Amino acid sequence: MFFRKKSKEEVSFDKERIPRHIGIIMDGNGRWAKRRGLPRSAGHKAGAETLKKIVEYCESIGVESITAYAFSTENWSRPKEEVDALMDLLYDYLANADKNLAGRNSVIRVVGNIAGLPERIREKVGYAEAISKDKTGLILNLAVNYGGREEITNATKVLAKKVQAGELHPEEITEESLSKLMYTAHVPDPDIIIRPSGELRLSNFMLWQAAYSEFWYSDVNWPDFSPRDIDRMIADYQKRDRRFGGHK
Ligand code: FPP
Repeated sequence: MFFRKKSKEEVSFDKERIPRHIGIIMDGNGRWAKRRGLPRSAGHKAGAETLKKIVEYCESIGVESITAYAFSTENWSRPKEEVDALMDLLYDYLANADKNLAGRNSVIRVVGNIAGLPERIREKVGYAEAISKDKTGLILNLAVNYGGREEITNATKVLAKKVQAGELHPEEITEESLSKLMYTAHVPDPDIIIRPSGELRLSNFMLWQAAYSEFWYSDVNWPDFSPRDIDRMIADYQKRDRRFGGHK
């Protein structure tokens, strides 16, 4: 049993039953900044720092992968200033991947429509993925220009082209063949998806992969999210009875 006592609340969980893959919708950056009289970009910057801390902590307790929603296909409609600030943060995060990963064994992967990203970002995606090539620790999937519907649509197009070329019979299309075409095919489906800041939506995040994921919500804004919140989430997760549609 992993046991942590702080103030009056005790949080404990079984170290042997840690979720393998955690999805994170990093929400509440704007509200965090507004409460402090800061620009929204300051909230995103603080959110990127929180992600580093959470990845480090999750790696230390044995989580195998995290998929973090950093920029959705819908986020392009935000004011240009905010989009530019998010792209700059992403650029810095990827360009400094060696420092971000220093002393750790984490792997960075970018999942989403990479072709639709500016050239300077695409170049850093290649750099960050190259330097984490030989690492074997926690896989951090940064979901960027990511949309669950677009991901499923693209996978469908790939299979449709194979059918059209006579390489595949429609009857041969299976859930597995679609799963293999998802951006996250290199990791298992998420065991749990967490959304801080009190919002209760999936917002086009891992629609296919979330079929049997648990959900966990918190009122804390993402920049204030801490390892202790991860402990709480895991303790709650371990109380859930995952039946995957079956029964006992
Ligand atoms: C939603 O909060 C958050 C986003 C749209 C972006 C999330 C991005 C980061 C945490 C930083 C970028 C990450 C990396 C790794 C470079 P919101 O802005 O909608 O918050 P609000 O609902 O309070 O306004």
